[in-house]
Amino acid sequence: MSKKWFVLRFTGLSWAWKTTLSNAVHKRLIESWITSIQQLDWDLVREHITKDLGFTKEDREENIRRISFIAWLLSKHGVGVIATFISPYQKMRDYVRSQTTNFIEVFVNAPLATCESRDVKGLYAKARSGEIKNFTWISDPYEAPSNPDLEVRTDLLSIDESVDLVINYLKTNSLI
Ligand code: ADX
Repeated sequence: MSKKWFVLRFTGLSWAWKTTLSNAVHKRLIESWITSIQQLDWDLVREHITKDLGFTKEDREENIRRISFIAWLLSKHGVGVIATFISPYQKMRDYVRSQTTNFIEVFVNAPLATCESRDVKGLYAKARSGEIKNFTWISDPYEAPSNPDLEVRTDLLSIDESVDLVINYLKTNSLI
């Protein structure tokens, strides 16, 4: 059981390793017997809750609004939430902060070239050729957090070191 609920929000480009980090943080928390944790990942959410939405600004905002509501519901019952979404607009990240308690904005950061080199699904190439429209950072904006609670450079740190940063933040702030 976590001491207090929290909403860890990982924002960053596609292939910045938001989900990789979320899985690793989740694993570390479970190993420490902190089991009231729910991961909200873009594929799960977009498959079950926001299947009707695309990637226009309006749809991305609605995606984040619904996720925020779920995060609020979960945290009301003492469940820690780890949410991994590009969430490119600062306004929407601020909205989630205003709707949830102990919101932690984690900027999962890696240079575009690194993200592209990790992209085994070839989404960036499809975006560059125009096959995928409104692709974040190629044909759509990404407002990098100017003042995140935490920044994790996944191109410079190992996943273990990245997890340490997140766990230390939670400990320092008495959230676990
Ligand atoms: S968000 O902007 O609304 O927060 P979300 O995190 O749910 O986006 O989904 C992003 C994932 O959808 C990407 O990691 C990528 O795999 C996939 N995707 C498909 N089309 C796009 C697009 N146009 N822009 C960004 N990601 C896309």
